[in-house]
Amino acid sequence: MILVTGGAGFIGGNFVLDWLKLNAEPVVNLDKLTYAGNLDTLKSLESDTRHKFVRGDIGERELVSRLLADYKPRAVINFAAESHVDRSIHGPGDFIQTNVMGTFNLLEATRHYWNDLSVVDKARFRFLHVSTDEVYGTLAADDAPFAETNAYEPNSPYSASKAASDHLVRAWHHTYGLPVLTTNCSNNYGPYHFPEKLIPLVILNALAGKPLPIYGDGQQIRDWLYVKDHCSAIRRVLESGSIGETYNVGGWNEKANLEVVHTICALLDELQPRVDRKSYSEQITFVQDRPGHDRRYAIDARKLERELGWKPAETFETGIRKTIEWYLASHDWIQNVTSGAYRDWLSKQYGA
Ligand code: NAD
Ligand code: TYD
Repeated sequence: MILVTGGAGFIGGNFVLDWLKLNAEPVVNLDKLTYAGNLDTLKSLESDTRHKFVRGDIGERELVSRLLADYKPRAVINFAAESHVDRSIHGPGDFIQTNVMGTFNLLEATRHYWNDLSVVDKARFRFLHVSTDEVYGTLAADDAPFAETNAYEPNSPYSASKAASDHLVRAWHHTYGLPVLTTNCSNNYGPYHFPEKLIPLVILNALAGKPLPIYGDGQQIRDWLYVKDHCSAIRRVLESGSIGETYNVGGWNEKANLEVVHTICALLDELQPRVDRKSYSEQITFVQDRPGHDRRYAIDARKLERELGWKPAETFETGIRKTIEWYLASHDWIQNVTSGAYRDWLSKQYGA
């Protein structure tokens, strides 16, 4: 079996659902269930004996060591993290704790477990660390996209904590021989995305008749990848990636934030028009920019395509339509995530 951490979050949840659809191999899912963890995402697995959910922290050494000893996974896939840049600006402490200390603990527990495996099991074991393109910093309009060889230049507490975790993973391979793989992916979107991030926030605010907040001039660029394509890339790297290597994952979909928001509005105008028949784009509101806001991210994913034959299945146009259709059809999931703690965050970040 495999051990997944953070499998009740957005990407980890999609990964676990897809994994169990495609494979017979069971999953142990270790998740702390922070505000971002949501068991509703995994509801369809309630009676699936191949899914073992454990509530706990990747930073708890005894717990992690016990899970490794009890379940003897052939791989650990680390999704667990604090993941939201704006929250990292308000309070970086949790990011250092989970992303740096938590990853350190997971590496140490895994190293001891791995050392005691048989020669055969040791050779086939993998530790796959899921990371972000944000570790590379920011690009000017005419810079080449981020390649695996770019220097790390993180600019936010979030990206700095992820960069630190990537360095630990690298060092545990170089020093101790732990068979690690790292993926650095661009911005994901799709089903089960917590609505603090741009795309789900805009969809839900639009439908609720609320302002659609655009930071600064809205011309910041992100590369967008449909979450299921990120999951397929992780499966491919786990299966065939070269030990110690890092792989950039991206969708070749660079878009300015304002363009993304206009696309969402146009699709909502078509799929669920406003009662007054005006466009949802009327709700667009420019708000104060994020401190230290990275201007542009772009990913060169050619290594993953060339060496492992991976390609995304969705374009931005097909993926964003699927995403909006999912939000329009998932009333119960949305009701549950938009309760008290979420409303507190909105007033902290955007004011009354
Ligand atoms: P998320 O915030 O939706 O989910 C994170 C999950 O980790 C939650 O279920 C949470 O409960 C759990 N968690 C947090 N701290 C934990 C701890 N100490 N122990 C155990 N579980 C803990 O994040 P996501 O968007 O699904 O991102 C998953 C991973 O992918 C992260 O490592 C993130 O850095 C990386 N990533 C995200 C994106 C993106 O666009 N969302 C892009 C590239 C990489
Ligand atoms: P986000 O989804 O937070 O991802 P990240 O910061 O990790 O890229 O934000 C995506 C982009 O959208 C980013 O440039 C910030 C911007 N943004 C807004 O303009 N308004 C918002 O309310 C949010 C949440 C993000």
